[in-house]
Amino acid sequence: MMDLVLRDASLPDGRRGIDIGITGGVITAVEPRLAAEARETIDAQGLLASPPFVDAHFHMDATLSLGLPRLNRSGTLLEGIALWGELKPTLTQDAIVERALAYCDWAVAQGLLAIRSHVDICDERLLAVDALVEVKRRVKPYLDLQLVAFPQDGLLRFPGAFALLQRALARGVDVVGGIPHFERTMEDGRQSVRMLCELAAAQGRLVDMHCDETDDPLSRHVETLAFETQRLGLQGRVTGSHLTSMHSMDNYYVSKLIPLMAEARLGVVANPLINITIQGRHDTYPRRRGMTRVPELMDAGLTVALGHDCVMDPWYSLGSGDMLEVAGMAVHVGQMTGIEAMRRCFAGVTENAARLLHLDRYGIAPGNHADLVLLEAQDPIEAIRLRAARLAVIRRGRVVARAPRRSATLALPGRPGEISLLQPRR
Ligand code: FE2
Repeated sequence: MMDLVLRDASLPDGRRGIDIGITGGVITAVEPRLAAEARETIDAQGLLASPPFVDAHFHMDATLSLGLPRLNRSGTLLEGIALWGELKPTLTQDAIVERALAYCDWAVAQGLLAIRSHVDICDERLLAVDALVEVKRRVKPYLDLQLVAFPQDGLLRFPGAFALLQRALARGVDVVGGIPHFERTMEDGRQSVRMLCELAAAQGRLVDMHCDETDDPLSRHVETLAFETQRLGLQGRVTGSHLTSMHSMDNYYVSKLIPLMAEARLGVVANPLINITIQGRHDTYPRRRGMTRVPELMDAGLTVALGHDCVMDPWYSLGSGDMLEVAGMAVHVGQMTGIEAMRRCFAGVTENAARLLHLDRYGIAPGNHADLVLLEAQDPIEAIRLRAARLAVIRRGRVVARAPRRSATLALPGRPGEISLLQPRR
């Protein structure tokens, strides 16, 4: 007797009519016409069962703080950082915990069951660190929260940041972060990358740095990150987030840089919603998009994930934890409108992100955790097009969120009384 069987599902790889059997929180069967009794059965009616969404880049210490203490008038990255600096002294641990837990509720409802969040360590009290370590512990039954020690005000620029970062790691933060483009000089940026990668190598930790989040075509910290990754034998364990300078770089230089990144097996995270709104702010027209070269990096074999980065915080007033909105923006900003390219954007918010986080037993296959989301869409492209409803969200074999199908009733003579926006079956 199985605990749960999901019948007649489509899978992201195109298989249709698949039954998924779950026992003891683990997927035990993925096959057509599964002959098994189950305590609970869900009829997927041919709709898409996907592994849960994974957000590879987020800032949970700032989320849902919109308007505190004031709004970002210019909408720029630098005013956002300044605003966060104004907000920081007034934060309390309880308020951070409450907002983060509220966001995790949204995430679960959106089928987003793993998040890598940066947490600002440039604070003598390490208030946000303690708050998010507590949140990580509390949400663990339903959401994997991975924390990155992020020196928002600069590792070398903020006095004592390196010691604070090490204290944060000792208190339960998982991953080493950085922000080389925000250090005072290119040389300080290079030095910070070196120090942080050496720390990660010494402690056996993953690295995920904000790297070259700038429109400066001459910023070279991605190159340094790839170099240090190789020098220290950290291949496959280091991620560069944003990499927006690559949008503006000279094509010849990029033709050398991407193969170096591939040699280092650097992970890449683009944050399309934030990149398209924050980059290019010094431009008149034409105005650059700023997102890194996602299709070219994917073509080179790099693992590229797409992150949300911000939801209702000093940098971005919008967002709802919807990784399909993130994927949809990547499709547009990266002009990735080909069928295969759109599927890759879906992978950017699911399997690619899971790989960067080193999540174990992820994906719809026997032996993996029974974590999945049933979407009101027939395939990944339709899911992006509709930002499909999350009909059922399953964590370790238990339904943790449900939502109704979306339909509308019409009052038009000679037309159907009720419609959905799914593509009619041909
Ligand atoms: Fe970020």
